[in-house]
Amino acid sequence: MDGLFLTLEGPDGSGKTTALHKALAVLKKEFPVLTIVISREPGGTAIAEKIRHVILDPANELMDNRTEALLYAAARRQHICEVILPHLRKGHIIISDRYVDSSIVYQGVARHIGVEAVKTLNYFATEGLTPARTFYFDLDPEIGLKRIKKAGGDRPDDRLEKEKLAFHKEVRKGYLTLAKENPDRIFTIDASRSVAQVQEDLYNELKEMISSYIRKREKA
Ligand SMILES: Nc1ncnc2c1ncn2[C@@H]1O[C@H](COP(=O)(O)OP(=O)(O)OP(=O)(O)O)[C@@H](O)[C@H]1O
Ligand SMILES: [Mg+2]
Repeated sequence: MDGLFLTLEGPDGSGKTTALHKALAVLKKEFPVLTIVISREPGGTAIAEKIRHVILDPANELMDNRTEALLYAAARRQHICEVILPHLRKGHIIISDRYVDSSIVYQGVARHIGVEAVKTLNYFATEGLTPARTFYFDLDPEIGLKRIKKAGGDRPDDRLEKEKLAFHKEVRKGYLTLAKENPDRIFTIDASRSVAQVQEDLYNELKEMISSYIRKREKA
């Protein structure tokens, strides 16, 4: 039987990476026989990290919206081939910090390329590989951007963080629509609460997914 593919989604500063690392530390101890791997997009491989650098570089002011969408899809393809599929074939659990939904809302909705165009482009890149469950961290973008500012100190904003608040509000609207359209796949986490509460929600949901995956694997 193949492994289990899960993703995390949500606006910048919604606490995805923080909660995932904390939840994973506990889960790895509770399920020592399983291999649980985390990866991130854009990136996750040497080639994809180079593409990530091009996408986020604040100097690339001239980047066209479709070029941006194509670069994300290219980085994703490489991440799938080098990381996600090899782990799934070995029966591992792989959790990706961002995946196709990010492209749908950032490029499709907030950059107005169109949801269908971005879905089509990503179908080419993923050949339809879809996560079994997606955890969406829902947060008012004003709070998320404040968190990033507070943590970053004098670090300059990357190209997407530089976008105006209206852009980030569109991102949230896009995510809320996706969550409504995919109630079986997308689980919404209220990310406005404390780190401990958010992490506990993610931990409980991940634990349930992993336990049910183990039960299915034992029956197979
Ligand atoms: N629940 C929370 N309450 C307050 N601050 C938080 C919370 N969760 C995370 N933070 C802080 O907010 C900042 C952003 O968190 P984090 O990097 O985990 O967000 P992210 O969703 O991974 O963002 P990005 O999409 O930009 O990678 C960090 O400094 C983190 O310590
Ligand atoms: Mg992160």
